Amino acid sequence: MTDKLLLRALSGEALPRPPVWLMRQAGRYLPEYRELRARAGGFLELCYNPDFAVEATLQPIRRYGFDAAILFSDILVVPHALGWRLWFEQGEGPRLDVQSPEAPLPRLVPEDLHRKLAPVYETLGRLREELPRETTLIGFAGAPWTLATYLAAGRGKDEQAAARRWMFSHPESFQALIDLLTEATVEYLSRQIEAGAEAVQIFDSWAGALAPRAFARWSVEPARRIVEALRRRHPGVPVIGFPRGAGGGYALYARETGVSALGLDTGVSPAWARSAIPASVTLQGNLDPLTLLPGSRALQGEAEAVLEGFAGRAHVFNLGHGITPEADPAQVERLLRIIRG
Ligand code: CP3
Repeated sequence: MTDKLLLRALSGEALPRPPVWLMRQAGRYLPEYRELRARAGGFLELCYNPDFAVEATLQPIRRYGFDAAILFSDILVVPHALGWRLWFEQGEGPRLDVQSPEAPLPRLVPEDLHRKLAPVYETLGRLREELPRETTLIGFAGAPWTLATYLAAGRGKDEQAAARRWMFSHPESFQALIDLLTEATVEYLSRQIEAGAEAVQIFDSWAGALAPRAFARWSVEPARRIVEALRRRHPGVPVIGFPRGAGGGYALYARETGVSALGLDTGVSPAWARSAIPASVTLQGNLDPLTLLPGSRALQGEAEAVLEGFAGRAHVFNLGHGITPEADPAQVERLLRIIRG
């Protein structure tokens, strides 16, 4: 029996107080992160240098004592390792080479992928040594669909229209792209687990752009394959699925993918989730990140509503999406006091 609260909740235990971590808990709302990023010279420099990535991961743990540390990295390092160029435009966000439906795809060579992602695995190994014993280490990857939206447009853009055009105009080549990303994700997450990740989360941030039939094919089915492969290689390691914006599709995702836990966005009420999602699936979420802005007086009431909404159910307290750069570090402190009493 583990004494790590996050692992207990992910294995289905309803705890008197839920464990808590926040998506993007390491990031620009923390002055120490901004200082570290300036020292590193850029975001990708942080991701690919284990000294910096370990430090960025640990910063929110030292400050708040969250129940889990999430690897500091980005979902786009996988397409980068597969051969697409990746860079960050100052003040704008990530850019990738655009992949057109007619162009040939790279081939997955696992040893090449692992060589390029070696700094990530090193970061995880060091974190396992440095984290407090009660803190769970979470690894992660982007879901194939969300990665495909960035490859189709070269950036995050307009309702993910480029990827949706591609899937309807060239379904075979879109399937080949999704298959490539699915297989790469299995390799990547397996190696993360071997390096020290104790649970993994699949971020499907743009699942909400898919109509129901497309959601089943391009979000649910790849996640099912990833979970199945990870279960075969690493039985007992929990997988959290986060198909953000899936709406009613969350129920299908929970039933069909085999995930241990489901990350809920703010569009879903706890009451609906409790009735629609099998009790064997732990629920994670789903406080609105903007309750953490300076001057937000709603934090206490909103956080208590989340706690009460999931009481008695296996629950991991989290936000409905990543914390924003404008969040107030003192509000995060307040949130932890509300959750932990
Ligand atoms: O949660 C954590 O603390 C771990 C680190 C983490 C980052 N990105 C760091 C990051 C994780 C889990 C991600 C996942 C990620 N990256 C997603 C899925 C989750 C989500 O937010 O929907 C997506 C879509 C990306 C791609 C990405 N990376 C975008 C669109 C951006 C720009 C938007 C922004 O917030 O600036 C990034 C940059 C990024 N990833 C930052 C951080 C801390 C900000 C970089 C900086 O300027 O310092």
